[in-house]
Amino acid sequence: MADIVKYGIIGVGMMGREHVINLYHMRTEGVAVVAVADPHLPSQEQAKNLAKSFNWPLKVFSGHKEMLDSGLCDVLVVSSPNMTHCEILMDIISHPNSHHVLVEKPLCTTVADCRKVVEAAKMRPDILLQVGLEYRYMPPVAKLIDIVKGGNLGRVKMVAIREHRFPFLVKVNNWNRFNCNTGGTLVEKCCHFFDLMRLFAGTNPVRVMASGAIDVNHKDETYDGKVPDIIDNAYVIVEFKNGSRGILDLCMFAEGSENEQEISVVGDIGKVNFSSMLTPPFLAGPLSCGMLGIIRRKGKERRIEREKLKILFIVVLSPIQCCLSNLHIARLVF
Ligand SMILES: NC(=O)c1ccc[n+]([C@@H]2O[C@H](COP(=O)([O-])OP(=O)(O)OC[C@H]3O[C@@H](n4cnc5c(N)ncnc54)[C@H](O)[C@@H]3O)[C@@H](O)[C@H]2O)c1
Repeated sequence: MADIVKYGIIGVGMMGREHVINLYHMRTEGVAVVAVADPHLPSQEQAKNLAKSFNWPLKVFSGHKEMLDSGLCDVLVVSSPNMTHCEILMDIISHPNSHHVLVEKPLCTTVADCRKVVEAAKMRPDILLQVGLEYRYMPPVAKLIDIVKGGNLGRVKMVAIREHRFPFLVKVNNWNRFNCNTGGTLVEKCCHFFDLMRLFAGTNPVRVMASGAIDVNHKDETYDGKVPDIIDNAYVIVEFKNGSRGILDLCMFAEGSENEQEISVVGDIGKVNFSSMLTPPFLAGPLSCGMLGIIRRKGKERRIEREKLKILFIVVLSPIQCCLSNLHIARLVF
């Protein structure tokens, strides 16, 4: 194990186990998961079974502090609930052993906590700390970023992102049902999209306008007598320093939407669109029927035969074409 980069995963629920699987795919590059920390016995069991199926001996801790003191790991992945990130990160950063860290988004649930972690991390140049904003690295989005950064669209003026999807999934101890645990729907779900808007705009925001509501989801659920307080739909407009603007349209009671996510970026000479069909192209039925109401489309859909169902449309307007209002449409399929 001397040349192996040894990973420890803090929080082995849905995402923590996904990290274990992803690291297994990288095993030939000299990585292994050697330990996990999670207080929840069923999560521990599932992680143990996964590691066993990969032939990875695994040390299981019920808390991150024992894992830090064990000295077993070089790199830690923090994939515990959002409200635990700040304390765990501060413990990692202040620990005498140095551990590099990948923390699942969002960094923390409040701006004050984010600042605290960032300042503390600056004092540890021996530690690399990265927030897992994975959308940047999804191949079609990475391509989109390349196109925008390559100047093909000119100066970015408008970024529109729509996510119409199914409600929040059930999580261990239902932590994601309350704003105090997640930071709110726009933090928990949409930090990816605000991150992308900022990348496309190439500068920081100066003004935000938003309107959201709890209209449909989780209204009939109670946890220790409390009804969930997370919004399930919102419109957000973000204005950036350089005059570009972004809009987010989020709906979390639109299961079966053909395009779960759509992104368009418009510059002064071109436009690029991306839509991800995370669900296959369905015709949505009545919302009251949920997934059961969804009717499958007949016929072959070439795009969904391709891995991961990712598609990108590009519309390029050359200056002359702009004058003639004549669009040249190129289509790239990944
Ligand atoms: N990148 C993405 O797109 C994406 C998607 C989903 C979730 N996430 C993020 O991943 C993180 C985990 O979400 P999840 O969906 O796996 O939740 P989950 O509820 O499935 O798993 C969380 C796990 O953390 C454990 N846990 C709770 N407190 C802990 C603590 N103090 N120390 C160690 N473990 C602890 C729980 O017992 C549970 O097993 C969250 O920050 C979430 O926002 C990211």
